[in-house]
Amino acid sequence: MPAPSTLLAPSILSADFTRLEHSIAIATKAGADWIHCDIMDGNFVPNITFGPVIVGAIAACTPMIIDTHLMIADPDRFIEDFVKAGSHQITVHQEACPHLHRTIQFIKSLGAKAGVSINPGTSLSTLDSILPDLDLVLLMSVNPGFGGQKFIPSSIGKIQKLHEIRLQTNPQMIIAIDGGITEENAQEVVSAGADALIAGTAFFKSADPASTAAKIRAMTK
Ligand code: DX5
Ligand code: ZN
Repeated sequence: MPAPSTLLAPSILSADFTRLEHSIAIATKAGADWIHCDIMDGNFVPNITFGPVIVGAIAACTPMIIDTHLMIADPDRFIEDFVKAGSHQITVHQEACPHLHRTIQFIKSLGAKAGVSINPGTSLSTLDSILPDLDLVLLMSVNPGFGGQKFIPSSIGKIQKLHEIRLQTNPQMIIAIDGGITEENAQEVVSAGADALIAGTAFFKSADPASTAAKIRAMTK
């Protein structure tokens, strides 16, 4: 397995944007491993969030790994800007990249880790040819665009299948799961083979994020 324990990645999308530094301190206190930054362009997904300036501000507040999820069309145009802003990991969508191999090599050439995400309606088989080149796969367990949606149950089977495939092709590759992760389903997704849990609402909207994180850690050991 790529990591000895489950990686926790609060999604900044659900944080208090009037107090970003404070929100990051909450994640640090909770022992988070990555800060997940959701970049939306109003084109690939029906919502708009923020760009490299905010990612730079987040990176300046923390030594944590900045995990940038590009939900944007033609991401090649902006990858370098996000790496320069402080992203350690860049994940692009398979559905947005006609030249996925080139895009992945480009991310790596900039010194960042490279990931690919697929939507709930996209088959794992679309990743067959690129899997050996990836540092991580981000499986969407909701349709991307918004925080606070309900976990799509068929994602469990997808995690299991990807876990089996990676054992054959790329055992070091991280499987991250994104969307609707809660204290209730964390154990099931980790048992299925997920290494990294992205959680926005369940973490930042919790009355006590540190105890939520501790509970998730305890049940996913
Ligand atoms: C959805 C984003 C997710 C989102 C997760 O498009 O990619 O990262 O922030 O939020 P929750 O945990 O609220 O589903
Ligand atoms: Zn995301």
